Amino acid sequence: MKAYYLVRNGAADKAFELRGLPDLKPKAGEVLILSEAFGLNFADVMARMGLYQDAPPLPAVLGYENVGRISAVGEGVATLKVGQRVVALTRFGGYAQAAIADARATMPIPEDMDAGVATALATQYATAWYAAEEVVRLHEGDRVLIHAAAGGVGVALTQMAKRHGAIVLGTAGSDEKLKFLKEQGVDYPINYRKVDFAKEITRLGFDKKLDVVYDPIGGSSFKKGFKLLNAGGRLVGYGASSMTEAKGNIFKTIGVATGFGFWSPIELLTSSKSMLGINMLRIADNNPEILGRCIKKVVELTESGELKPVVGKTFQHHQLAEAHEYLASRQSIGKVVVLW
Ligand SMILES: NC(=O)c1ccc[n+]([C@@H]2O[C@H](COP(=O)([O-])OP(=O)(O)OC[C@H]3O[C@@H](n4cnc5c(N)ncnc54)[C@H](OP(=O)(O)O)[C@@H]3O)[C@@H](O)[C@H]2O)c1
Repeated sequence: MKAYYLVRNGAADKAFELRGLPDLKPKAGEVLILSEAFGLNFADVMARMGLYQDAPPLPAVLGYENVGRISAVGEGVATLKVGQRVVALTRFGGYAQAAIADARATMPIPEDMDAGVATALATQYATAWYAAEEVVRLHEGDRVLIHAAAGGVGVALTQMAKRHGAIVLGTAGSDEKLKFLKEQGVDYPINYRKVDFAKEITRLGFDKKLDVVYDPIGGSSFKKGFKLLNAGGRLVGYGASSMTEAKGNIFKTIGVATGFGFWSPIELLTSSKSMLGINMLRIADNNPEILGRCIKKVVELTESGELKPVVGKTFQHHQLAEAHEYLASRQSIGKVVVLW
């Protein structure tokens, strides 16, 4: 069994090596999965660049999700069987032909579910579900701003918001993505490279009228989003992609960090606005049942056709570096998938 190890930070073509995996044995409560596909997440790009604080020390196998068949179960696993086809959150270790996962974050999937579609569920769709159904409860008519709306989590959030009948404003950085957002039902697609998103939202008449802002960009985007909220509005921060632009430069990094702004609870109280943070790894560590129910729900709704994960591009495993560069280039739409 082999896996792609991240051996050095930097350019994707020099960062990974295919190496043998040590024998993996599931411990109590775990399963071993023989993988047919794994997905990429933007956090992998940040980890490759050395910008992701939760990444394991090198050499490390990255990867948050695996789709494949269970080949062994650990003690006490009663709900899953050897031979079942599943999607699982792997919490690193995903870029591998065999991966260990917590049984609570492993969900059976139908034989005919596309492997690429399934890779979108354990991380991006589960995160979006937690953000759209648990941390915040969306309602019909809510005015919701979704940043990076054409990306993996963004597409999922858009589909969940539209499912509730929300009015969706979505940002993306190219005309191709804007066309895609329209097709996904985004009511107000905004190309933030052509216009300042906050000015455009004001021009559209939504200044201080947004109910929810989903922000994985961080820095000044966070502060600008907060100002656009209504009383009762909620800003959900779940990433800091703008850190990649600082490229490790200490002054730029401080610039992004201070760009978030400095907030007093008194301001939240008097304006009746909230800030919420999400880190699904912490949720997986502290309360895996929450993660499990999120994955279960998105698997069910994908099976029933209510949610439709979009696979933007599929690569073969030997093209891992290419797949990474593609996601990092910010051209990708939906899920980037790698097949074994
Ligand atoms: N907190 C959690 O537990 C959790 C879980 C999953 C994902 N996330 C976060 O969610 C975000 C999206 O993840 P994903 O895997 O779904 O990736 P993705 O959205 O598919 O890809 C990233 C996209 O972000 C957009 N973007 C906007 N500003 C950017 C910037 N300054 N630098 C880089 N990209 C920028 C780019 O599209 P446009 O420029 O066209 O908009 C890019 O294509 C990431 O920040 C990730 O870390 C967090």
